[in-house]
Amino acid sequence: MRCLVVVGAQWGDEGKGKIVDVLAEQATIVARYQGGANAGHTVWVEEDEFILHLIPSGILNPDTRCLLGNGVVVDPWVLAREIATLRDRGIDLDGRLGVSRRAHLVLPYHRLLDAAQEDSRGAAKIGTTGRGIGPAYRDKVARTGLRFGDLRDVDRTREIVAGAAVRANVTLAGLGDARRVDTDDVMSRLEQVRRQMVELSTDAGDEIRGGLAAGGRVLLEGAQGALLDIDHGTYPFVTSSTTTAGGAASGVGIGPTLIDEVLGVVKAYITRVGAGPLPTELAEAEAERLRQLGGEFGATTGRPRRPGWFDASVARYAAGVNGFTGLAVTKLDVLDTFEEIRLATGYEVDGTPVASFPDSVADLARVTPVFERWPGWATDTTGCRTFAELPGAARRYLARLEEVCATPIRFVGVGAARRETIAVPAGAALR
Ligand code: IMP
Ligand code: MG
Repeated sequence: MRCLVVVGAQWGDEGKGKIVDVLAEQATIVARYQGGANAGHTVWVEEDEFILHLIPSGILNPDTRCLLGNGVVVDPWVLAREIATLRDRGIDLDGRLGVSRRAHLVLPYHRLLDAAQEDSRGAAKIGTTGRGIGPAYRDKVARTGLRFGDLRDVDRTREIVAGAAVRANVTLAGLGDARRVDTDDVMSRLEQVRRQMVELSTDAGDEIRGGLAAGGRVLLEGAQGALLDIDHGTYPFVTSSTTTAGGAASGVGIGPTLIDEVLGVVKAYITRVGAGPLPTELAEAEAERLRQLGGEFGATTGRPRRPGWFDASVARYAAGVNGFTGLAVTKLDVLDTFEEIRLATGYEVDGTPVASFPDSVADLARVTPVFERWPGWATDTTGCRTFAELPGAARRYLARLEEVCATPIRFVGVGAARRETIAVPAGAALR
């Protein structure tokens, strides 16, 4: 790897954090390119669990420089808290973290607007994480956002905040929400973190281009998943940024020609949190079993995730939109006790195969998955460290998964810890 992008190939929570953590050992720079504190990466180092929302998972590797690119929206108070938490756990961050001066801030009024808008949607709720992500990106596109570079100038910062407060208050009043934004209050809260944020500011694109030119290895870390992409996801039940690999170059400030590999991360099954169709969704009794076995509760909001069987239509679509060069299949061990495992190879509507992935959620809600049934392996896989050590039924399931996704499997996760990861050498035949 020289410049690798890691993307979620489902609806988020595929276990990208752990894969990035493992790959970060070879990276000189790890950079996030989109999203904000709506993400939650759970990573385990020995007995310690870390949940990170903004800082790339690569921070656990002491030799890696971690960047938040221009495409990320950064809540500075969440960032300050994460820095403090990592320091308390003995992780040295000095000189290891930077934020693009072109990155936008998520401010308290973005959270207020996120909540007020969700409330006003009634039954049509998106089920956002409530972290102010959509409103922050809206300010960015409307050209009314506050960027890290602006923080150097207090007067300019106040001018932007004051303008945003006026507009936010009009919106809140229009939604019948009694809460109001106060510029002085936002400014005094900002003053608590402003200097620290200015010190973290950098030109992330310069750093990455320079790092690559000097022979370094760069990992670009996506958040959420391909099906939550603002353009290619299940709109409107999506997040507000380009989660797919095409956004990686622009989200950190490099040209797409610098990217050599795109690794898509899938779970051995699928989950979704928030509203919107999920064609292979399990019936509640089985869903609860998978949820408990897989710990499928949101890392950011604690909400129960909705589990389903592996959906190859989703994975093939994600592979096409992202240009995957390989797949990482995570959480295989969660299926260890299932007698039978189902895998959806495609969709049908009224008995007719669906050729391309539906562009509307109404159409997606109408499809019937075409399932194959595979025998379970009824064996604990968490101790397996090579593909050959996996039980035969697990190898056959993975070989079939690789075949229907038409993308080579490069990693298999069999547990939450770093060492519980099987690397599949390039070119290895799984069958
Ligand atoms: P937002 O990103 O908070 O605006 O939420 C929009 C949609 O994306 C909702 O369905 C969220 O549940 C979903 N979402 C946002 N971030 C994540 C994530 O990191 N994992 C899974 N779902 C997410
Ligand atoms: Mg997550």
